Amino acid sequence: MEKFNIAIDGPASSGKSTVAKILAKDYGFIYTDTGAMYRSVTYLAIKHQVAFDDEMGLVNLIAKYPITFSQSPAGQLVFCDGEDVTQAVRSPEVTNNVSEVSAHAKVREELVRQQQKIAKDGGVVMDGRDIGTQVLPDARVKIFLVASVDERAQRRYSENLEKGIPTDLETLKKEIQQRDYLDSHREVSPLKQAKDAVLIDTTGMGIDDVVAAIKKVVADQVDPALA
Ligand code: DC
Repeated sequence: MEKFNIAIDGPASSGKSTVAKILAKDYGFIYTDTGAMYRSVTYLAIKHQVAFDDEMGLVNLIAKYPITFSQSPAGQLVFCDGEDVTQAVRSPEVTNNVSEVSAHAKVREELVRQQQKIAKDGGVVMDGRDIGTQVLPDARVKIFLVASVDERAQRRYSENLEKGIPTDLETLKKEIQQRDYLDSHREVSPLKQAKDAVLIDTTGMGIDDVVAAIKKVVADQVDPALA
């Protein structure tokens, strides 16, 4: 099969990573969660007491503690300098500060360079905020996923319940709105739909429906056999 890249962008909790993982598995592609990379830098800043507004301090952390991915039967794992941080990067402390860290131009420059290297030979499904616009402007397929704030908060609430994490729906809603605002209004590479991306509103859709909708786009744009 031709090696091509799929870029999936969209706001927080729009279901990007869930569907990106399924697509990667079905097509035999590599999945790359770029949000986990910005989260890893935030985790490192907390651990090594580097301020979130110290741009060069954050860039130095990236150089000193390389971020890598590895596949396991339980899914993809994220490592910083050999430490498994897969769970740690999902903590509320990281989630509530990652927008500030990811707004720095030099942090983005370095992580974008790494992301482009991962995707250089094709065969990658990459999700994030700026994949279709900045990281892989030549990606063969670009998808922009959206869903209402209410639905995204409800999905996150149910996920947390399943994991036994007590949360408050209204608080989740406010956090999602706050992150949407920060991610779409920052100066460098704000969250934005690429002109050639296909918009899919997943409000009211199940995961299988979203995967099917994206496969239809892939089939139309690349190869009918990929439906
Ligand atoms: O997708 P996520 O919620 O794990 O992403 C965490 C944060 O990282 C998100 O609030 C914005 C930032 N991010 C980014 O700026 N660019 C990306 N390509 C991916 C994530």
